[in-house]
Amino acid sequence: MSTDKVQIFDTTLRDGEQVPGCKLNTEQKLVIARRLDQLGVDIIEAGFPISSPGDFNSVVEISKVVKNATVCGLTRAVKKDIEVAAQALTHAKRPRIHTGIGTSDSHIFHKFKTSREEIIERAVSAVKYAKSFVEDVEFFAEDAGRTDDEYLAKVCEEVIKAGATVLNIPDTTGYCLPEEYGRKIKYLKENVKGIEKAILSCHCHNDLGLATANSISGVINGARQIECTINGIGERAGNTSLEEVVMILKQHPYLNLDTNINTQLLFSTSKMVSENMGMVVQPNKAIVGDNAFAHSSGIHQDGVIKHRETYEIIDPKDVGVTDSAIVLTARSGRAALAYRSKKVGYELSKDQLDEVYTMFLTYADRKKEVVDEDIHEIMKLCVSTNSILA
Ligand code: KIV
Ligand code: ZN
Repeated sequence: MSTDKVQIFDTTLRDGEQVPGCKLNTEQKLVIARRLDQLGVDIIEAGFPISSPGDFNSVVEISKVVKNATVCGLTRAVKKDIEVAAQALTHAKRPRIHTGIGTSDSHIFHKFKTSREEIIERAVSAVKYAKSFVEDVEFFAEDAGRTDDEYLAKVCEEVIKAGATVLNIPDTTGYCLPEEYGRKIKYLKENVKGIEKAILSCHCHNDLGLATANSISGVINGARQIECTINGIGERAGNTSLEEVVMILKQHPYLNLDTNINTQLLFSTSKMVSENMGMVVQPNKAIVGDNAFAHSSGIHQDGVIKHRETYEIIDPKDVGVTDSAIVLTARSGRAALAYRSKKVGYELSKDQLDEVYTMFLTYADRKKEVVDEDIHEIMKLCVSTNSILA
């Protein structure tokens, strides 16, 4: 069976940048956009050009420097938004306009105070208008996660006729369960006339911690684009994390889905985004957290030292992390202590290790973590290691 490509649509600079207090200036956005291009993302959502002169300017500058990826600008289904986005994208080699409107009853009746029919008319006019500026038009059905499937299919059908080539099905509020979101994508694949002319895209928010699971369920059920951000940053609990979906597809080759991402750049890209935004990555974050490849319990350390794959499903080098870390704590065993001692120059006999280990435990009980300097101190305190130190 041949492997299908899943397009990676990075929205770190648009949805991701909506994190309160994490605003980036144009220079910082350019640094990140260049890196995303190197990383191999297929589409960079560079901003929401009508939202502010700063955002407009960032989209203009990003369009000039990005070499490979499509550069995308967000708009509401409003003529002025679309004109401004088209203008901001003038220099892009591959411009895309991302336009759309809310389609759930909650959005239609409470936000727009209108009817389902009127929403379809606005969606179609927006897509047609965007199409008059660029070939590549993506339509988003905001709150699709809570939109009635039959109506959503109708909206999709009409916007495809109007020229949309990508259909974004956002779970805007992060409400769906993976099985439910996957079923929605499958329903659209099977019930939208003309769907073969468009790519379905997953855009999942993480309010219930399900963004990654929902996106994966989406691609298993026929979507071929995932919208995501570095470190999973974004509104409220964030968006789907790019590094997670990319590594899931890589580590599960039988799904026959892969991406164009150079995974060895994932860790450094995560650090770059975190530093520029001033937003720390939680240590236990999958793939890029500081503890993602750190082992601290004796049983795990012993296993990893004997054979890395006993407790690691990803080779840290595949994501740009130099090595797994064996962290010395009071939970560590002799194997870990011998391993770390050897790394800093002490090859211990069995008897020496017994003595050093006893001293180590007293030390470790007083400290959260025993570091290299502590190992040197411990060696000095042990009688049996005097010959090594001499
Ligand atoms: O979450 C969402 O629905 C969005 C759209 C604007 C694409 O970010
Ligand atoms: Zn979003």
